[in-house]
Amino acid sequence: MAAPTLTTPPTLAPHPVTPRPGTVTAGILGLGAALPRRVVTNDDLAATLDTSDEWIRSRTGIGTRHVAAPHETTSTLAIDAARRALDDARVGPDELDAVLVATTTPEHRMPATAPWVAAALGTHAAATDLHAACSGFVNGLQLAGGLIATGASRVLLVGAEVLTRVVDQSDRTTAVLFGDGAGAVVLGAGTGELGPFDVGSDGSLRELLWIPPDDGYVRMRGREVYRHAVTRMTASARAVLDRADLAVGDLDLFVGHQANARILDAVISRLGLRPEQTHVTVDRHGNTSAASIPLALADAAVTGRLRPGSRVLLTAFGAGLTWASCLLTWPEEAP
Ligand code: ACO
Repeated sequence: MAAPTLTTPPTLAPHPVTPRPGTVTAGILGLGAALPRRVVTNDDLAATLDTSDEWIRSRTGIGTRHVAAPHETTSTLAIDAARRALDDARVGPDELDAVLVATTTPEHRMPATAPWVAAALGTHAAATDLHAACSGFVNGLQLAGGLIATGASRVLLVGAEVLTRVVDQSDRTTAVLFGDGAGAVVLGAGTGELGPFDVGSDGSLRELLWIPPDDGYVRMRGREVYRHAVTRMTASARAVLDRADLAVGDLDLFVGHQANARILDAVISRLGLRPEQTHVTVDRHGNTSAASIPLALADAAVTGRLRPGSRVLLTAFGAGLTWASCLLTWPEEAP
């Protein structure tokens, strides 16, 4: 394949369909995932930490996680995932109007990671990062929907993290939870449906899960985070169903933020979802923050769980505190 060249984005066609209130006529045209090669098991962690496979599995549902090697960074993972999503969507980098990277672990404090990802792909498209911790990807979908509503035709959205670099590997209460990786989607105007959304925050609770000044590592009050995560994710998912005038039984798939199997189980049970309506990857990926939902979606696509017309509900929760949910209707066909 010839190397992509830097070109001006094409003139944008008007949207052919009038969207319903709270939604945009837009859909995911392609997905891509990138996971570091190195897989760390619970037994590997127990070799240096006072923990066990039994404790980690029973409290979190996590069995393994991928951990970045020194040469793997937020941008290398983001670029790999993005290339796969563009290939899957059969969209060229010159067709992109915007590149958004949701990350808690940007490559540099300045500049943002997204312009570098855009350059590596071969586009001068608008490029910006967004930081809403584990909710970043779903927040990014809302922003991408806004871009499409105001004229963009193709938007690349990546969730990418190297969380293990900001986790204290000697702190067993956090070291067992997180993993690294990136997931990417290409959104296209004129097919499928994006929305409605429910998005919110409560910054008064920021110290429940944060990197304190002069510390450098993630610190968490686990029990309180657990309680807020279950309550907020359940309420946010219900708000989207109410806005869409749908019942839980109308959903083909629910993909929640993959933080912890116990949080997911509690949310799934409160919502009344059947196991076959859900997709879980936290057992293999751990908590990859902004990358968790696109990685889980890419995994669901590979296993044949996303079909034209599928109604998919995404719900995320994370540091901030932040939460975000949205409904997606899978495109019937690429426009
Ligand atoms: N291995 C063995 N023992 C451990 C470990 C470990 N890895 N971590 C903590 N413990 C110990 C504690 O030290 C404590 O010991 P003590 O009783 O002697 O003091 C005991 O286990 C119980 O600790 P708790 O923190 O009360 O354990 P809990 O049952 O609440 O489980 C957990 C901890 C898994 C973190 C839970 O609180 C949780 O799931 N919280 C949600 C947080 C989360 O998932 N955060 C991810 C980021 S937020 C997000 O993405 C949504």
